[in-house]
Amino acid sequence: MTEIAKNIFTVGVKDWTLREFHGYSTPYGTTYNSYLIMDDVITLIDGVKAPFTAELIENIRHYALPEKIGAVVCNHVEMDHSGALPEILSLMPNAVVYCPEAGKKALQSHYDITNWNIKTVKTGDTLNIGKHSLTFVQAQMVHWPDSMMTYEAKEKILFSNDAFGQHVASDVVYDDEYGDCIFRHAKKYYANIVEPYGLQVKKVLGEAKKLDIAMIAPSHGLIWRSMIPQIVQKYDFWASYNFNPKKALVVYDTMWGSTEKMAKTVARAWSEKGLQVTLRSLKTAHISDVADDCAEARFIAFGSPALNGRILPEMGALITYLSGLGFKKKIGFCFGSYGWKANVLRDIQDALSNVGWLFPEEYVSQQYRPSEQDLKELFATACNVVR
Ligand code: FEO
Repeated sequence: MTEIAKNIFTVGVKDWTLREFHGYSTPYGTTYNSYLIMDDVITLIDGVKAPFTAELIENIRHYALPEKIGAVVCNHVEMDHSGALPEILSLMPNAVVYCPEAGKKALQSHYDITNWNIKTVKTGDTLNIGKHSLTFVQAQMVHWPDSMMTYEAKEKILFSNDAFGQHVASDVVYDDEYGDCIFRHAKKYYANIVEPYGLQVKKVLGEAKKLDIAMIAPSHGLIWRSMIPQIVQKYDFWASYNFNPKKALVVYDTMWGSTEKMAKTVARAWSEKGLQVTLRSLKTAHISDVADDCAEARFIAFGSPALNGRILPEMGALITYLSGLGFKKKIGFCFGSYGWKANVLRDIQDALSNVGWLFPEEYVSQQYRPSEQDLKELFATACNVVR
């Protein structure tokens, strides 16, 4: 627990052992950040995941008796932030819960809120709690309909909830204590959580730019205080669906090595065309790491053999995942080996064409083992994709 500004404390928890977050691999764990403002109205901003409720209560007790808490800001109802609410609100009979209308509806769908005192707020509404005042900024679809941020004017802190977060548990609190590799975590987080909502992010950035911000305190990971211009600039870049025109990704799965041979051929072709190519096997790469690679690449090739008339299951999972994330401005290419059903790659091409990807060359299906001549032809086709 840390006093991040006078009378404003972190009371959230660290989840060091979390390794999966609804499909997102979290090898560094995560945190559920919660903040306590000690003022005339003691205010709690956001909660934690249900299994950590006792730890949150213990942290709050370090500064205040829970029954003395008068306001609870619920910036987002997803259960990693609201799971503790039923139990903590039962200890806070005087607390008013502040959330947007969509938040109230979501709370109603998650919990029995009969005895909760909920006050709905919207962008621009202000709550005075003594020396501090809180202004609410709705952030619909960044990344849920109820998402909201809360700005504390005295210390100029934006409690941004999921936005600007990173899935990383650490014993340090601030960006500058962690170092530049924080951006690697922020990038993967953006690609896997926020990517579909670029337009909404742009809108929220517009609101945020009107504020004088000294600190961005998200609900996951480290607090931004030294690298705010950099992370805001990166969000602006990512939300515009920008990409690195030199980056390419070749991702594949393989049964007996034929598709792997083809993947290496495509990677070599693109590399010789001057691209920086990342080669990922789905036997070792998690789909959320592939999504992270995908975010910055312009050209992405998918290789899968046929199995029972379908692509391999891990590739199927990846394509479902990427279709949902809706990466834009991408140029794709498909290849793979088959035994007796040649057109399984159509599933990949169709799924991604439906979300706007371009496939300038038809997929290349190779029966059983590719010969040297087959690989030469694949090389030429792959070159045509990026010409
Ligand atoms: Fe961190 Fe959308 O929950």
